[in-house]
Amino acid sequence: MRHIKQLDPKAETALSGQTVTFEAYVPFPNGKQRQVHATYVPHINEDAEVLGFFALVRDITEQVRTEEEVRRNRDELAHVLRVATMGELATSVAHELNQPLSAIAANSQAARRFLAADRPNTEEAIDALTDITSDAKRAGNVIRRMRDLLIKRQLQREPVDVNEAVSNVAGLLHSDAVSRQVTVTLDLADELPTTSGDRTQLEQVILNLMVNAFEAMTSSEIDRRELVVRTFIGDAGSAEITVSDTGPGFHPGRPDNVFEPFVTTKANGLGMGLPISRSIIDAHGGRLEAVHNPDGGATLHITLPAGGEDS
Ligand SMILES: Nc1ncnc2c1ncn2[C@@H]1O[C@H](COP(=O)(O)OP(=O)(O)OP(=O)(O)O)[C@@H](O)[C@H]1O
Ligand SMILES: [Mg+2]
Repeated sequence: MRHIKQLDPKAETALSGQTVTFEAYVPFPNGKQRQVHATYVPHINEDAEVLGFFALVRDITEQVRTEEEVRRNRDELAHVLRVATMGELATSVAHELNQPLSAIAANSQAARRFLAADRPNTEEAIDALTDITSDAKRAGNVIRRMRDLLIKRQLQREPVDVNEAVSNVAGLLHSDAVSRQVTVTLDLADELPTTSGDRTQLEQVILNLMVNAFEAMTSSEIDRRELVVRTFIGDAGSAEITVSDTGPGFHPGRPDNVFEPFVTTKANGLGMGLPISRSIIDAHGGRLEAVHNPDGGATLHITLPAGGEDS
């Protein structure tokens, strides 16, 4: 009985009087293996003797396979969405940037002319340079506004239960966490205020942060891959979420840099997860911040204003 082997140590625990719950792979004679979820409940008589145990065993092979497929589809969808978003963004940005860039080119030519003349006109040159500075700022604003616009245009408003959003995303990432050997702990506050916003987008933010944490911890020791998502009530009754990991943390000194578009340390990263997440949280009237943990690792902190009921 080859397949009993894996279950034996757990049987011993159950026979010592403790309930055990675990997942295991059970080899079948046809060479295939099935994944099972099992609970052994000891059968204890009035004299506190263990007579045996009840084994509640469920075959979860199909369930796990479906979860993996859902995750793959989700990753593909997120990728397609991001590429589509980027394409749209790039077109509008190029269009809007044309004007300030042409002005910058014209003004810098003028400044050169004023300075290269036989009698240099520094006053006009300074004016041209001042115009260049303000056009450069305008160009920067175009990029920021386009990003915000893109996100606001798609924003729905409904009361969102923050704890439920966290639990949904954690459920979605369960098999991911198992395969990456990450322990995920949810520490959710009772009576958290609902917030008003777009459930899908808020879940997208939590997902981005959790996936970043998973990716950050691939370099950590296996027994130190811990992700904790905590919700709590903040000042002014806000709903707060922190996502903390035990990875390497951010580069010293500049955690804010990671919110800039295209900042990535990953071979396949776009560097858009955090900037998009911050824009979504901004559009909800909240804040997204990155902090170093005193004992290593990173914490991403979301603050969302209360106010789901009356919207
Ligand atoms: N939890 C974390 N711990 C350490 N570094 C992190 C963490 N989260 C993000 N970073 C750093 O910030 C960078 C930017 O993250 P961001 O999510 O914006 O982009 P990305 O994950 O690289 O790519 P993608 O666009 O696929 O999300 C990452 O490449 C990584 O260097
Ligand atoms: Mg990311």
